[in-house]
Amino acid sequence: MSGRLALGVLASGRGSNFQAIVDEIEAGRLHAEIRVLVVDNPDAYALERAQKHSIPAVHVSPQGFPSKDAFFCAIADELKTRGVELVVLAGFMRIVRKPLIEAYPYRIMNIHPALLPSFPGLHGQRQAVEYGVKISGCTVHFVDEGMDTGPVIIQAAVPVSSDDSEETLSERILRMEHRIFPEAIRLYAEGRLRVEGRVVRIDGYGLRDERVVNPPLR
Ligand code: GRF
Repeated sequence: MSGRLALGVLASGRGSNFQAIVDEIEAGRLHAEIRVLVVDNPDAYALERAQKHSIPAVHVSPQGFPSKDAFFCAIADELKTRGVELVVLAGFMRIVRKPLIEAYPYRIMNIHPALLPSFPGLHGQRQAVEYGVKISGCTVHFVDEGMDTGPVIIQAAVPVSSDDSEETLSERILRMEHRIFPEAIRLYAEGRLRVEGRVVRIDGYGLRDERVVNPPLR
């Protein structure tokens, strides 16, 4: 890919992952541009971040539509109109429906705060603490119609201590999220991801390459 990869980011809240992507772009380490931030919640702090960085942002309210499909159809239209090539779910708290998935097949990425397929759904960090696992982490995956079920692109692991609370583990995982999400987008922008069934092959990374679980700090 020669030009900058056109991104559309969907968020519902704080937007720290959105910020991590913005920072990588501004630092010149990610050859992409954010064409639009779409929020489903008018109070999302991500909106303020977008404003600060002069990134176009829109609020699309699900209440304004007769069905969930119609809501996602409107989001797909917004993204297409702006020429978005890759959709990034950065803390977007809804299950994406068919109209958006079909508009962007294997071109929607999500970040999940657990090592999928463990602990899908809400509160992945709390689930890990309560289960008592010793390792957790985060996953970037392509989105399909299931809940956190799409092909895994990249994961990072963190240790879990018996002293951890949901909050302390969340902080540790979040630091890794901010590393691997931009990394996954970079791999996509460089044309290095290939989906074969459930498996995402990464050109230049062996499947057992250590960097897939612990990407280099930049
Ligand atoms: C992150 O923990 C992410 O894994 C999950 O939602 C949270 C969003 O945080 N999907 P932020 O809005 O990016 O700060």
